[in-house]
Amino acid sequence: IATVSCVTEQTLVLIKPDGVQRGLVGEVIARIERKGLRLAALELRDVTVEVASEHYAEHAERPFYGSLLEFITSGPVVAAVVEGPRAISAFRQLAGGTDPVEKATPGTIRGDFALETQFNLVHGSDSPESAAREIALWFPSLNS
Ligand code: TYD
Ligand code: MG
Repeated sequence: IATVSCVTEQTLVLIKPDGVQRGLVGEVIARIERKGLRLAALELRDVTVEVASEHYAEHAERPFYGSLLEFITSGPVVAAVVEGPRAISAFRQLAGGTDPVEKATPGTIRGDFALETQFNLVHGSDSPESAAREIALWFPSLNS
């Protein structure tokens, strides 16, 4: 009998300033845990412009980059390393699409709680490469 193994992944999750300000931290973490994913690191913290611009470097040329940086540094965020089988895709699925009205469906975090793309509550890494880069950026002391 062949053993089927599902590789454990880690992903970087942020509850953005709107989520913290609106008191949705518990709601988001509850959904992560109910899915069966685990928290490997969790911290409330202020975001420097340096970390924010590095985090969103791929969007540096986009028209929304300036307001995105201003928003993400506007208040504390909850940063987390979330792990489990296919954690990267699993969290992206919990979050829903980037545009919380046109793309995220009801039942997802963005679909249930957000109205505007800029204020879409959560971030989740989009690939193993992004996850590795973002976890190293936000949790440099975490070695895995
Ligand atoms: P992106 O990486 O495309 O989305 P996701 O968070 O789903 O990976 O964009 C990063 C963030 O930038 C997005 O969560 C919200 C913001 N954003 C805008 O404000 N306007 C836009 O048109 C887009 C595409 C993103
Ligand atoms: Mg992205």
